[in-house]
Amino acid sequence: MISLILLAGGRGSRMGAPTPKQFLLLNGKPIARYSFDLFVSMGEISELVVVCDPSYQEIFSTHQKPLAFASPGPRRQDSVYNGLLKCDPRSDLILIHDSARPFVKKNELLDLIEAGLRMGAATLAAPVTSTIKQCGDRIVEKTLNRKSLWEIQTPQALLSPIIRKGFAEVQKLNLEVTDDVSIAEAIGHPVEIVPSSPSNFKLTTPFDLAIANTWIGYASI
Ligand code: C5P
Repeated sequence: MISLILLAGGRGSRMGAPTPKQFLLLNGKPIARYSFDLFVSMGEISELVVVCDPSYQEIFSTHQKPLAFASPGPRRQDSVYNGLLKCDPRSDLILIHDSARPFVKKNELLDLIEAGLRMGAATLAAPVTSTIKQCGDRIVEKTLNRKSLWEIQTPQALLSPIIRKGFAEVQKLNLEVTDDVSIAEAIGHPVEIVPSSPSNFKLTTPFDLAIANTWIGYASI
């Protein structure tokens, strides 16, 4: 059994809009509904847990599979934890997705599910195309070898016992994590990279929204 936690609890302040970015309209449809509709259509996913403010719950509905809601927490990782508490305890694999990524594709999800079940922890990621430098106070400390760098995306997949054990460790050590496979890393569990497309980018700024409005004309989603 596979559960999917869809994170839609952020405020998206970097977008500069009064509405959280995941609920802005893209071609007339709320951004969060693009991935939601894909997950609803996939038989591999048994249940959906949407983390969002109660005032936005009406955006999400389905008769095709169980749907639960959880309240957002102050940090992304708190929202994930609240979502995890609403997942069916019989679930084998937990998928977590940022609703601000509307362009994830079904074939990428199938690859991720396969890797998650086999490895215990896996994430979609795209190879880095830019040169990345590590800096301190705007002085370059180090130029990283981009051949070994990946831009981490979502969905990410963790076997239920791994995310539960990892969360206990993260909470015990008071760790801040910005993605979910970091929870597996916290207990020393290996994480597999599943190559995906750069079009699975996260909408953060008005520039990203402009790109998304153009891309939607090309993407068959
Ligand atoms: O802020 P960021 O873009 O990294 O957020 C990634 C995803 O996590 C977004 O879809 C956002 O709605 C969600 N989020 C959340 N609860 C928070 C912060 C972010 O559900 N407290």
